[in-house]
Amino acid sequence: MSGCQLAVRGATLPDGRGKGRRVDLLVARGKVLELAPAAGKTPAGEAEEIDASGLVLLPSLTDAHTHLREPGYEYKEDIASGLSAAAHGGFGNVMCMANTNPVNDSASVTELMLDRAKDSWPRGPRLFPIGALTRGLAGRELAPMAELAEAGCVAFSNDGVPVSSSEVMRRAMEYASDLGRRVIDHCEDPSMNPASGVNDGVLSGRLGLDGQPDVAETIQAARDVLLAEYLDLPVHLAHVSCRRTVELIAWAKSRGVRVTAETCPHYLLLTEERAAGFDSLAKVNPPLRTRDDVLALRQAVREGVVDILVTDHAPHADCEKEVEFDAAPCGVCGLDTALALTWTLVREGELTAGDLVRLWAEAPCGLFDLPLNRFRPGDPADFVLFDPGRSWLVCPDSLHSKAANTPFLGRTLEGRVRAHFLGGRKIV
Ligand code: DOR
Repeated sequence: MSGCQLAVRGATLPDGRGKGRRVDLLVARGKVLELAPAAGKTPAGEAEEIDASGLVLLPSLTDAHTHLREPGYEYKEDIASGLSAAAHGGFGNVMCMANTNPVNDSASVTELMLDRAKDSWPRGPRLFPIGALTRGLAGRELAPMAELAEAGCVAFSNDGVPVSSSEVMRRAMEYASDLGRRVIDHCEDPSMNPASGVNDGVLSGRLGLDGQPDVAETIQAARDVLLAEYLDLPVHLAHVSCRRTVELIAWAKSRGVRVTAETCPHYLLLTEERAAGFDSLAKVNPPLRTRDDVLALRQAVREGVVDILVTDHAPHADCEKEVEFDAAPCGVCGLDTALALTWTLVREGELTAGDLVRLWAEAPCGLFDLPLNRFRPGDPADFVLFDPGRSWLVCPDSLHSKAANTPFLGRTLEGRVRAHFLGGRKIV
């Protein structure tokens, strides 16, 4: 076919609950030329041919919540290593949080992030910084949101540092909306054992740790939902972890409130029991919750009550995590493992492959207005060839992040990215 640069033959494209259909993908000038039934023998002329039989064809994924630590904490991660983890993990769009040092509350920090991304991964993954909601993330004075949007920030968040003032949150939602951006709120009542990293309950009692109750999340989420309704403006709730917040979101959506939400693979796969034995790899904010919360979250992502999945990739150095539980920082890294972990849920029948595509590509790109490949002619040829049969051990050597602070360390996962293309060019 004239102009075709690449022909990917015989991959399986997921479709809803079924086994998917075998397709040939033809690419020209960085865009999708055609998606045809496999073995259709669509002539590809001089194009490079890839035999993708046995591989799953996915659009390149979007992670709307990562921490890449640069500037300021490059010993944990930097933009080059974070984007390497993204590229190998199947993520072509990466939104990074503002809790760097200095905080991303000025155009110069946003520009530095974008320059670092362009220098280290010129062909992508694409970086989309999230601007700070308040100066220095201090929660008092709004950050220069127009300047940040102009510099390239695609959303605003005080991630990691809850905004306790409802008035500040209200103004932030108003300004963000004027700029065509969304506020992403880390919901946590700061008066209730903030960032303790363990759920309040029988387990925290047994361990003698100050647990954080799930209601600390839901209280702030309720405040945000009520503001969103009052203002008739959107708000996006970060890393939702419990049934109570899911029920609040369902109630709000039924009233027409413009609330959206995200959760992470670790909240769908692990319970608080993972922290028994004081394992700081399971220390994360919000904390891992109970089996009942896991079940509620699984249902919520299936039904779209929780709209998207994110990694909340939060790399920390080994020496920071290898201390007593109380002293360790919260966070798990996730860019390398997210797709295989979500595939676990697909294999177990908890999600369909179609859900995976919705939760990791279609919905986040829709929410944050990012480039998306729906495999229609003219779409960006951004795609992943995923090998569902390839098992691999989660260990420092198999991760591309600088960090290895994942509660899945030592686990064998099934499913790995075989190749990742952006704009029709292979990036890994
Ligand atoms: O566990 C977490 N770690 N939760 C957050 O909200 C922030 C993150 C970090 O930056 O380490």
